[in-house]
Amino acid sequence: MGTPTLDDLLAAGVRGERVFVRADLNVPLVDGQVGDDTRIRAALGTLRRLLSAGARVVLASHLGRPKGERKAELSLRPVADRLGALLERETRFCDEVVGPKAESAAAELRDGELLVLENVRFEPGETKNDEALARGFAALADAYVNDAFGTAHRAHASTAGIARFVPRRAAGDLLRAELEQLGVVRDPERPLLCVLGGAKVSDKLAVLEALAPHADSLVIGGAMAYTFLAARGDAVGRSLVEPDRFEDARRVEAAARDGGCRLLLPTDHVVVHELAPNATSQVVARVPEDQMGVDIGPATARAYAAEVETARTIFWNGPMGVFEMDAFAQGTEAVARAVADSEGRSVVGGGDSVAAINKLGLGDRIGHLSTGGGASLEFVQGLELPGVAALEEA
Ligand code: 3PG
Repeated sequence: MGTPTLDDLLAAGVRGERVFVRADLNVPLVDGQVGDDTRIRAALGTLRRLLSAGARVVLASHLGRPKGERKAELSLRPVADRLGALLERETRFCDEVVGPKAESAAAELRDGELLVLENVRFEPGETKNDEALARGFAALADAYVNDAFGTAHRAHASTAGIARFVPRRAAGDLLRAELEQLGVVRDPERPLLCVLGGAKVSDKLAVLEALAPHADSLVIGGAMAYTFLAARGDAVGRSLVEPDRFEDARRVEAAARDGGCRLLLPTDHVVVHELAPNATSQVVARVPEDQMGVDIGPATARAYAAEVETARTIFWNGPMGVFEMDAFAQGTEAVARAVADSEGRSVVGGGDSVAAINKLGLGDRIGHLSTGGGASLEFVQGLELPGVAALEEA
């Protein structure tokens, strides 16, 4: 990788330097408290190394999509508190993002101290990659470390713009590890199996198009599968479909066929009349007209698990059914177990798939759990991530 790394930055010395670290601490909040701290834990490695090397760390992240407005419920303060607890050190917090208050808070830092800034998306210029805001961030720092893999597919002021205005910059350890691990999907040991799920073909079309000619097998689950089945002319009842994507689905199937990739769709389904957690369900091979598919059936789950077993590289993104309802989580859980049992290299991205793995306590049996959903999909497609490109170009 041609990107400067944290090792390079530390080797040159950071004691007494203000280092602006962009992390992705976009975590779910429940009643104003951190609901899942996976992303906060993933940021600790880089922060610990910088702090113990005597850096004065200014940490920035977004939280949610406040659209340039200050929204109390999207303050980073609870995230900063959890971070301080995990780091076991006092953490300062500045309720501004840039400007005189943030500058004096950064100037007051002593060696090995950490300042967390307020949610960068409270500033309207953040998502516009506004130059004045990027310069404002740069005014807080002598060096820039981007460790926000989950946001590396966004060209924003704190993920990309700032890099041009800071003299020293580097990819953090998390960003670097993610690129290395996801790199195995781009350059896989074969057979490569890609398991894609989720509700909509439209959300995953670009990755389907990129992976169909690249993978050896492509396994599709979730409501997305019904758009593929309907495009083939199969019965899907009242399942969620996107008729305006039928042509795209047929194109993906053709690309898979031409590229020698086996594309697998569900052959049985868990169906219900109405989507509700305790709805009466049945397993069918053909979705009846008045019902909808909510999970892959047991025969499909077995077939998908068998596919996982023979793959040498596995990339999985997206649930196989309405995973948030326990009754319809079995297909997703069967895939999660198969991926954990696999002797191949496994990489899992996307909030729901990672949540399924964690819920089953299988995290340490997966090759790599990515902290990026959209970012991991863009990367495996072969796209350049603006947050990474900015470190190289600057
Ligand atoms: C994510 O959760 O996928 C990242 O934090 C990016 O968030 P965004 O989609 O709001 O840019």
